[in-house]
Amino acid sequence: MFKKIEEIFISPEDGLKKILSTIQKSGIGIALVINEDKKLLGTITDGDVRRALINTDDVLKIRAMDLMNKNPLKGHKNMTKREMLLLLKKEKRYQLPIVDENNRIITIYWINRLLEELGEIAIPLSEPDISQLEIKYVNETIKSTWISTSGANVDVFKEKLAEYLGFKNIVMTNTGTAALHTLLLSFSIGKGDEVILPSLTFIATANAISYVGATPVFVDVDKETWNIDPEQVEKKITSKTKAIIVVHLLGNPANMDKLNHIAKKHKILLFEDAAQAFGARYNNKLCGTLGDGAILSFNGNKLVTTGGGGAVIIKDKERIKLANAIVNQGRFSEEKYRHDIIGYNYKMTNLHAAVGLAQLERRDELLSRRRENHFLYREYLKKINGLKFQKTSNGSSPNYWITGVFVDQREFGISAKELLKIMRENGVFCERMYPPIPTQTPYKSFYNEKDQNKSKYVSENIIFLPSSSNLQPDDVKYISKVIEDVHRFYKES
Ligand SMILES: Cc1ncc(COP(=O)(O)O)c(C=O)c1O
Repeated sequence: MFKKIEEIFISPEDGLKKILSTIQKSGIGIALVINEDKKLLGTITDGDVRRALINTDDVLKIRAMDLMNKNPLKGHKNMTKREMLLLLKKEKRYQLPIVDENNRIITIYWINRLLEELGEIAIPLSEPDISQLEIKYVNETIKSTWISTSGANVDVFKEKLAEYLGFKNIVMTNTGTAALHTLLLSFSIGKGDEVILPSLTFIATANAISYVGATPVFVDVDKETWNIDPEQVEKKITSKTKAIIVVHLLGNPANMDKLNHIAKKHKILLFEDAAQAFGARYNNKLCGTLGDGAILSFNGNKLVTTGGGGAVIIKDKERIKLANAIVNQGRFSEEKYRHDIIGYNYKMTNLHAAVGLAQLERRDELLSRRRENHFLYREYLKKINGLKFQKTSNGSSPNYWITGVFVDQREFGISAKELLKIMRENGVFCERMYPPIPTQTPYKSFYNEKDQNKSKYVSENIIFLPSSSNLQPDDVKYISKVIEDVHRFYKES
C-alpha cells in the first residue's frame, strides 16, 4: 500500500512496466497520470490495463496517455467524506482522486478508507434483518416493562418454534453456547466421557464439551461438503464415546443417514449443533429434529435472530425437564426460591423473544432471500475458474445462511487470504473460514496432522461472502464484479 500520494503518480509517457508496478504498489488498483504541475490528466485502473493488453498487438508501445481514462470520476477538496462515499457508491466505483480548483491532485480516497473513517461497514457479512414488526414487538415489550426472563413472549416464541419444528420438547436459552452446555448436562455427559465433533466448526461446539469436563475427539471434514466425514467418525469411536455432535456447517446439512446409522450401531447419542442451520432440511425434515438432541442459535448474525439466544431440543421428555431446570437456576418447580440442583442462569429474556417472534413470522422471507442471493452468486461467478461452492449431501436442502467459496489459488490467480484482503479494501466485508479447533491455543494438545488435514485445507482456502437477507441483488452483482476483476487482473495480465 502506498504511503505518499506521489508514489502512485505516473507521467503520460510511462510504459507498461511502470504502469503495472505503480498500480501494484498502490494497493488500491489505480495509478494517477499527472503533468509537471501535478494536474490530473487521467487515471489508469487494473481493468484499463487488462483491456489494453487484450486489444494491443505490441504491448511495448503502450503508453499511459493511450490507455488512461481522460475523464475520471473525481472529487473536489471541499466535499465532505460522506459526499465522497455517496458518490462512489452511486457510481459503483472504488477510488476517488481529490483535486483543487485548478485540477491539481491533492489526495485520493478509496471506498474502504472512507468507510473506516465514517465508522461504517459497506457490505457486512451477515447482519440482522430488522423490519417494522421487530420494532413494534420490542416497543410493546418495553412499554409493558416485562423485559427480563418473565413474560409471555418466551412462551409464545417457544410454542411457535415447536409448531414450526413439529417438536414439543424445547427449552429457550440466552445463547446457543448455553444451549450446547445444557444439552450435554441433560444427558449427564461429563468427566471420563468422549464426545466426537468436527475439527472445523465455531469453537463453541468444543467449549461446551470442555465445560462439562468431557474429552473432545476431533474428526476431519469432507473436502467437498466441509462437514464431518462419517467414514472417519467410526474410526474414532471407543468404549468411552458417549455422543457425536454433528455441525451443519454454514447451514449445509451433514450426512445424517450415515451418522444415524453409525450412532445406532455403536449405541451412542447423536446430537446436532444446528446453530447455523435454522430452516435447513435433510430428507425433508428440519435440522434440529434429526437426532437425540439438538441446539439452535439466535445470535445476531444468524438467519433468524433474537439478538442473543438459543434453544435446546431433546426427544426424551424427562431430559427436557432436566434441561428446563438447568437453565433456570436448578428449579424443577415454580415454587419460589426452591432449587433442587445446581443450575445456571441461561434463560432467554422476554425482550429478546420479542425480536424472535417477529423473525419467526418472517422466516419464509428470510430463508428465501438468503437462498436467492446464494444462487445469484452462483450465476455471476460460474464462469470464473478456480472457485467452488459447498457441495450438498443427497436429500438435503441447505438454508444458505452463509455462502462460502473455495478459492483454488492456481486457477483463480491469488489465494483466499489475498482475495479476502482485496475484498475488504473494496468495502466488502468477507470473512475467513474458522481455523480448525485443534490449531487454537486451548486445544493444541489435540492437534494431530492426519486428523486435521482436510479441515486445514478447507479452512485455508475458503472465504465467506456477504450473505445477509437484506443484501440487495445489486450488492451481489457488485461483490461478484470485484471478484471477477481481481481474477482477471491476476490471472490474465
Ligand atoms: C456451530 C456453532 N455452534 C455454536 C454457536 C454458539 O452460538 P451463540 O453465539 O448463540 O452462543 C455458534 C455461533 O455462531 C456456531 O456457529
